[in-house]
Amino acid sequence: YYCRRGVRHLSDTGITRLPGNYVLPASDRAADEYSPSLIKLPVVDLALLRRGPEQRAAVLRTLDAACREYGFFQVVNHGVDRADVAAMLDVARRFFALPQREREAYMSPDVRAPVRYGTSFNQVNDAVLCWRDFLKLACNLPLVDCVDSWPSSPPDLRAVASGYAAASQRVFMEVMEAALEALGVAGGEVMGDLRKGTQMMTVNCYPECPQPELTLGMPPHSDYGFLTLVLQDDVAGLQVMHDGDWLTVDPLPGSFVVNVGDHLEILSNGRYRSVLHRVRVNSKRLRVSVASFHSVAADRVVSPAPELIDDEHPRRYMDTDLATFLAYLTSAAGNHKSFLQSRR
Ligand code: SIN
Ligand code: FE2
Repeated sequence: YYCRRGVRHLSDTGITRLPGNYVLPASDRAADEYSPSLIKLPVVDLALLRRGPEQRAAVLRTLDAACREYGFFQVVNHGVDRADVAAMLDVARRFFALPQREREAYMSPDVRAPVRYGTSFNQVNDAVLCWRDFLKLACNLPLVDCVDSWPSSPPDLRAVASGYAAASQRVFMEVMEAALEALGVAGGEVMGDLRKGTQMMTVNCYPECPQPELTLGMPPHSDYGFLTLVLQDDVAGLQVMHDGDWLTVDPLPGSFVVNVGDHLEILSNGRYRSVLHRVRVNSKRLRVSVASFHSVAADRVVSPAPELIDDEHPRRYMDTDLATFLAYLTSAAGNHKSFLQSRR
């Protein structure tokens, strides 16, 4: 029952203790006090990428180092209008403030549904629930076909979210092109596949939580696609695993947090790392974020790039595709965090 109705509902009822099905075993909880030190991820300036060969080379070095060391970076001067970014976060907040029954209408057990409202991380497999509600919007091309099934309330959701989705795709393509150049991979075929690829937008809501130290907004996981672009509000919560520590990402206003997904780790034959990350929640302020997952179409196979395989760097991953991933996700073993291991 709790599971179906989600955490916004729980939070709105004014509970002061966390229900038992949200309490993580002590070993899975975050050990540290919340929000110790915020880290600044490496910053990739897209405006410099366009400025000239020398500046481009310098940005490519930053990007390359970030993808190897952190699997994460922040993108600034991305060209997406500040007002459009603010509008996206605003409409996200208003969607989660709709009456419970309006949000519930979009619940679906079908992971391929073009619109899906839900709660926790992977409801099929979560033994303990996470403190998170979400709205997943498929953004496949032609976008207009998807948009018609998105929520019609708030009334501006379709216009704002479709504009934002198109902008996210543009930034993704520019960053991907740079990443392939930094890797020394001939990008033609991959970029062609990505141009006809898939995009999924997940709008997340992490309400105020009565006992935040006992639970998580998202458990440790890596992302499936090539790159994920995350837009977060000014409330910190995203943490990245780095050298055995959980680092809290500083929500740099106006930036996107970008991370390497499993597909790019595979394509790069392990040079770039799809890194574990998780979300902390807090008792004081609701947090919203919008994660855009970009990849190739469902029928395309992802393999290590031939340029990155030689005697010194033997092939490290099997081919993969969406069908393999979905089968994995809905299986008993299906827990996002080790999908990549299953491809080694
Ligand atoms: C994620 O999608 O893994 C995290 C998104 C967030 O920062 O809320
Ligand atoms: Fe993620």
